[in-house]
Amino acid sequence: MVADPHGGRLVDQVWSGARRQEGLRRAEKGLAVSLSAAALADVECLATGVFSPLRGFLTEEDYYRVCNRMRLADGTVWSIPITLPVSRDVREGMELGLRDAASGEIVALMEVKSLFAIDPVWEAERVFGTQDQKHPGVSQLFRASRWRAGGPVYLLRKPRRDNFAEYPAYPAETRTLFQQRGWRTVVGFQTRNPVHRAHEYIQKCALEIVDGLFLHPLIGPTKADDIPAEVRMRSYEAILEAYYPRDRVCLGIFPAAMRYAGPREAVFHALVRKNYGCTHFIVGRDHAGVGDYYGSYDAQDLVRSLPVEELGIQPLFFEHSFYCRRCQGMASLKTCPHTEADRLILSGTKVRTMLRSGVTPPPEFSRPEVIRVLLEPLQIKSEQSVGR
Ligand code: ADX
Repeated sequence: MVADPHGGRLVDQVWSGARRQEGLRRAEKGLAVSLSAAALADVECLATGVFSPLRGFLTEEDYYRVCNRMRLADGTVWSIPITLPVSRDVREGMELGLRDAASGEIVALMEVKSLFAIDPVWEAERVFGTQDQKHPGVSQLFRASRWRAGGPVYLLRKPRRDNFAEYPAYPAETRTLFQQRGWRTVVGFQTRNPVHRAHEYIQKCALEIVDGLFLHPLIGPTKADDIPAEVRMRSYEAILEAYYPRDRVCLGIFPAAMRYAGPREAVFHALVRKNYGCTHFIVGRDHAGVGDYYGSYDAQDLVRSLPVEELGIQPLFFEHSFYCRRCQGMASLKTCPHTEADRLILSGTKVRTMLRSGVTPPPEFSRPEVIRVLLEPLQIKSEQSVGR
């Protein structure tokens, strides 16, 4: 028994066969807009049920409810405005072709039900809690057109993802997988970073109380200095091989873009993992945060403020975790009585700097198998510069 999708029904707006041919013909005929990589990821998630109950980009009414009250117009909890920036020549009532800007191909068809202008300063404050353009989500918002088109989307071409072909990407796939494995309870784990010991610790603590662990790295667009998704997935393969029971773990990919909206994104991340069939979801320290914009536990506080019956997924909260030399193992602020001097605390940024300057992070921070994977791209680069 996997979790029911958010809103009760898993959305499927992927067109195939004759309907797809007809959709392509209509999309080629009319006005078409080019999608950024982030908008393309949204279209894919909308059509494949990842963002259920959404069937398309938010209309004006839903947009204001989501920004103001974290709900859709019908009252369903929803925390992130999923909107499509468009140029001013788009009109309400038209069918719009959606084109992948990178390949130039039509990928989807959209019915424009609502056309409206947003105020980026207002949205930034509501969603990100800041208007500082150094925040990657805010900067994205300020760069885009202010016009938004809302309405259902129909996917005509799924993205080809040869490098990740073996991983489940969509809710329909994982729901079947979890059922086949006989898992009644599954905990979902969101991540945009290579796996480290604190991740492993909280994942395994969670696995102690459920049947299965769904590791779900985000592979959509991230900010430029995050580690590329290919490398992160290899880091997961390496650690799974050496340290995890394979029959209790499912590794999938999350095609969405990262928004860095901290607390609101934590709610969103929980809801979409419910669509994948998870019954539980991990929210640790500074979930989906960036820089110092959010307090370490702001995301947990926001998730906790929503009734679990409405979320429909049980959040599992973890305090800041680390290796403690006196405990001689992984621990957290909740379980370790020792001082900061006894603890090994490294941030993702610090580790990236260490790796770039050729310093290997200690095994108390990261498994050596993972470090080897992270060093590969740097080694290739240095071999290339030696060869030049
Ligand atoms: S995130 O942007 O996807 O949240 P990251 O991949 O670092 O970033 O985190 C994945 C999950 O692990 C999040 O729930 C985050 O809160 C949690 N987490 C990361 N590091 C720690 C830590 N040291 N202690 C507790 N939780 C952590």
